[in-house]
Amino acid sequence: MDVMGGFVHAQVLLACVRLDLFAILAGGPARLEELAARTGLPAAPLHRLLLSAQAIGLLEHRSGHRFGLGPLGVPVATHEGLRAMIEHNHLLYQDMADPVAFLSNAWQGGMANYWPYAHTDTPAAPGGASHVDRVARYSALMAGSQNFVTAEILRSYDFSSHRCVLDVGSGQGRWVAELAQREPALRFQLVDLPPVLDIARGRHAALGLESRCTYHPGSFIEDALPKGADLITLVRVAHDHPDRVVQGLFHRIHQALPVGGTLLLAEPMAQPEPNRASVDAYFHCYLLAMGAGELRTPDRLSAMLRGSGFGHVELLPNGMPIHTRLLVARKNQGLPSS
Ligand SMILES: C[S@@+](CC[C@H](N)C(=O)[O-])C[C@H]1O[C@@H](n2cnc3c(N)ncnc32)[C@H](O)[C@@H]1O
Repeated sequence: MDVMGGFVHAQVLLACVRLDLFAILAGGPARLEELAARTGLPAAPLHRLLLSAQAIGLLEHRSGHRFGLGPLGVPVATHEGLRAMIEHNHLLYQDMADPVAFLSNAWQGGMANYWPYAHTDTPAAPGGASHVDRVARYSALMAGSQNFVTAEILRSYDFSSHRCVLDVGSGQGRWVAELAQREPALRFQLVDLPPVLDIARGRHAALGLESRCTYHPGSFIEDALPKGADLITLVRVAHDHPDRVVQGLFHRIHQALPVGGTLLLAEPMAQPEPNRASVDAYFHCYLLAMGAGELRTPDRLSAMLRGSGFGHVELLPNGMPIHTRLLVARKNQGLPSS
């Protein structure tokens, strides 16, 4: 029943977000009649929604026939980035409404349109106002959801021995901004598509960070990466691209690093066979709808890293692998650089 009813759970969640129920109930528990007045919905169908949300842990029954936030509702009420993710998940829901048609034509839907770079090798080409708008929209979504990933990375890796960090596919530069705050001696290089880096530069200027950063607009598919960093970070980037692009990117990263330099790769990864994690189903379908990327196991990514010349590759343990897993790869002395 849970598997069959998964789509109902998603729609109950979306309805609660769209009706602002989490924000309303963050102010305190409320009765059905009050919620009907605040949402403008008739009490009877709203009651079904509240009971459904209660059944899946989003809401909770409280004394005096009131509804309050449940254990899963609290984070949704607290994090705007989660609400943005839930809203944009609707694109995947629509894309998969006819699941068999979706499999034969996955890139015709809303999700592929949302991520303009994920199904082309020349992501910088389109240009024009609507392209810039789309770039700003996905960059804002990524920045809004990045704090979960950032927290995992900062808890699991010690940056104190590094001098200069190159963040490849840096988005709006939020990860760099957080790390800069934590490690005041670090300097940074950022690589992303030109319109994305324009946003990053503006945000960094507002935070007084620009003097510690250099910006390198371009495509990591076509252009060499800047040299000078002893650590390169790749956060939620590889899974957006096919093997050919990722292998090429790993080569470029290896070439850009000095001997002894490190790559830190952070993104959700697949469970190796024969283990299972239901969240993998979500990512497999999401990445198919989005473009040519895929969810890879840590072993597969490690093999690709070794194939690009990295000598030592290690999976770091971390508390919330649903947000990201972490691979560290070192460029050893004496190994070929390409
Ligand atoms: C899923 S986002 C992740 C952004 C950020 N690292 C984060 O975790 O929030 C992937 C990023 O890679 C950038 N990107 C995609 N293709 C690229 C390319 N060929 N060259 C440079 N950047 C690219 C996108 O513009 C986007 O900012």
